[in-house]
Amino acid sequence: MVAAVSSRALGFSSSTIEPCPTPPGIFVLGRTVAPCIMNAARTQSTLPKPVGLFGHRFRQASGEFFDDGAGHLIGLRFVPTRFRPPLPARSPRDLSAISKEYSMSMTMTGFISLRQVPRRLCRAVWETIPSPVRQTPLMFRAGRYIYRKFTRNTVRLQTHYTHFMRNPPLLSVIEALASQFPRDAQVKIASIGCSTGAELYSVLYAIRRVRDDLRLTAYGADISDTVVEVARRGIYHPDVPAAQGSAYAAGRAEVASVDVSSLSELLQPLPDGSLRVRDWLRQDITWLTADATDDSLQDLLGRQDFLLANNFMGPMEDPLAERCLRNMIRLVAPGGYLFVDGIDLDVKTRVLKASGLRPVLTSQEEIWASEGARGGWPWLRWGREPLNRSEADWAIRYSIIFHLGDR
Ligand SMILES: C[S@@+](CC[C@H](N)C(=O)[O-])C[C@H]1O[C@@H](n2cnc3c(N)ncnc32)[C@H](O)[C@@H]1O
Repeated sequence: MVAAVSSRALGFSSSTIEPCPTPPGIFVLGRTVAPCIMNAARTQSTLPKPVGLFGHRFRQASGEFFDDGAGHLIGLRFVPTRFRPPLPARSPRDLSAISKEYSMSMTMTGFISLRQVPRRLCRAVWETIPSPVRQTPLMFRAGRYIYRKFTRNTVRLQTHYTHFMRNPPLLSVIEALASQFPRDAQVKIASIGCSTGAELYSVLYAIRRVRDDLRLTAYGADISDTVVEVARRGIYHPDVPAAQGSAYAAGRAEVASVDVSSLSELLQPLPDGSLRVRDWLRQDITWLTADATDDSLQDLLGRQDFLLANNFMGPMEDPLAERCLRNMIRLVAPGGYLFVDGIDLDVKTRVLKASGLRPVLTSQEEIWASEGARGGWPWLRWGREPLNRSEADWAIRYSIIFHLGDR
């Protein structure tokens, strides 16, 4: 088991939480203890009930830790000893005991970060290499080696991060695919791991603006009832993530203030400065709390013409991600499309190769390159591997859209 740690819950930015090369997952927390102590107070209201207390062995801090009830550590809240509120009458555990319990180890930068030095040096050198050189076959193979050996088994960070119009080239292809349906056809769409709903609303917007004759029915499902409720309300604040108070890190805001004007057909500004999804997009959607790995999901949702399964299988352990992806495939109707991103590429290729679904190659490169936040390969687990057509199975490996024949 590898623990998922929310850097937001920990109280500092993701740039200061770094994977170490040694499996099953080592986390370096902040540059010193101080920033996380300072920020801890701010996250206090967003964290669930703590499951225990810990004492830090250098005595600068003690605090509480949180898990998601399924054995994943999702946060630590540090409290400096001198400001510590009275602790309940339970003996605190040491951080190292917690790390063992959650099959992870922790290193405080500033105290024990020597193991990070070679990795950081290598990454710094890698980043000085000009992009054309990095794209040579030799460098690609080196990157794959680094990823598989040192990165693949590090941070598995589950978040609620989503935003409106997240991958525009992908939405354009969805529009084109929807255009092929017969006039007045019934089309079923589901977003699994929907988070606060921005993905499903964006897809419905893309389809409805080109085909307002289609009879759309949609499901949005997520394992967190907090985000499902936000999705159902459909109200967002510019620059503020809506997924506060849920089990995983909220991630960035669904909509940035600079994008508000370009989203005016989709989001209606309200007098208090918030934005509400327009009524014509809110119709015929069922929002529900459900687990994507649950085999009975097909009974609940039926088969879908567009099944969106994006950005939640990556943090899962491989066997669970494989099982979950098979479960997602079962939800695709004959003639329907599966959209799958944010998953380990080896897992995706292995499962989809044997599935009978065919990759849709339209705008493959643009879709693959579209998300700027996926830099950092091969040093970050969620970094986007460069599209490489000399790779075996490249069509499956670098596609996000898959088609099940026989409509
Ligand atoms: C990073 S968000 C992705 C949101 C959206 N799909 C997108 O791509 O923009 C991942 C979401 O998946 C949800 N999730 C994680 N594991 C899940 C599971 N087993 N079943 C359903 N939802 C899950 C999380 O709660 C989170 O809201």
